[in-house]
Amino acid sequence: MVQKQALIMDMRLKTRVSGNRVGSMKILVTGANGQLGRELVKVLSAHHQVIGCTRNELDVTDLSKARDIVQEARPEIVVHTAAYTHVDQAEADQDRAFLVNAYGTRNMTVAAQQAGAKMMYISTDYVFDGRSTKPYREYDFVNPVNVYGKSKLAGEDMVKTLSDKYFIVRTSWVYGRHGSNFVKNMLRLAETRTEIDVVCDQVGSPTYAPELAWFIKELLESEKYGIYHVSNTGACSRYEWAKAIFAAAGLGVTVRPVDTAKFLLPAARPAYSVLDYMAIRLNGFSTLRHWRTALTQFIDELRSI
Ligand SMILES: NC(=O)c1ccc[n+]([C@@H]2O[C@H](COP(=O)([O-])OP(=O)(O)OC[C@H]3O[C@@H](n4cnc5c(N)ncnc54)[C@H](OP(=O)(O)O)[C@@H]3O)[C@@H](O)[C@H]2O)c1
Repeated sequence: MVQKQALIMDMRLKTRVSGNRVGSMKILVTGANGQLGRELVKVLSAHHQVIGCTRNELDVTDLSKARDIVQEARPEIVVHTAAYTHVDQAEADQDRAFLVNAYGTRNMTVAAQQAGAKMMYISTDYVFDGRSTKPYREYDFVNPVNVYGKSKLAGEDMVKTLSDKYFIVRTSWVYGRHGSNFVKNMLRLAETRTEIDVVCDQVGSPTYAPELAWFIKELLESEKYGIYHVSNTGACSRYEWAKAIFAAAGLGVTVRPVDTAKFLLPAARPAYSVLDYMAIRLNGFSTLRHWRTALTQFIDELRSI
């Protein structure tokens, strides 16, 4: 009991509670320091009471802490963005990837379910093997080709098995102001190089994190549970994406198309992971903007910082 009270005090002192409006809901966000977590805390706080938990405040691999924090906070919704996201490192670190992505997700789902909260889990296009030639629908055959994708899929299974009020949002190629991502990496490389090799045999859809956060907000205010594919619309190869980044930024960088095999990375990637938005269409939501429009906005925003 003493221990539990100490934990609760600990939580009150450390977790950041923001937003508090009449008619708003209480929402707990894991991974609050991550690329998407930070955008979500910002977007949700404008309308709801948000408890953003970083890894230090809530390590999702600790079931009893997850339960205690959720029991004490009594959120109506748990948004679980925390994840082991090092795709290449996961190949040599399988246990850790599964501990965080599968069992961490189980822990958050058990805690949410015990509190009667809706569960929102963020998953990935990497649950698909990339052999398709047309956009993947939500109920297409999943067959991840790397450890990260397998561990995220195991997380999906935990959510589906243990929650009776869940959303699974599969997204792809996320970028934004926070954290590490392809757009920021390209702009950083352009500071020292005039020619850059980029793979042309991986095709997908970039997703602007703030726009994804707005969609997630809309979804979790509904009771339209299930699996959703969410990315900016349109598709491109990483090579085309890099060219668009430099064009939008007005940088004269030459981008050379190369095959994935040239980079000899530990983890395989799906060659094609474009998502179809059947669930968005059938549930009456609106798709996101075209990826080029969102990218231009992001680059303009970076300029104004
Ligand atoms: N980025 C993409 O392109 C992409 C694509 C598809 C799906 N997703 C999914 O989208 C979600 C958000 O991704 P993101 O881009 O925001 O990733 P991110 O920036 O790497 O954020 C993940 C966060 O999870 C935290 N975390 C890691 N282990 C944890 C643990 N044991 N307990 C609590 N927190 C832990 C990390 O904490 P530290 O900051 O301390 O490391 C980090 O803040 C993830 O579920 C990811 O699988 C991402």
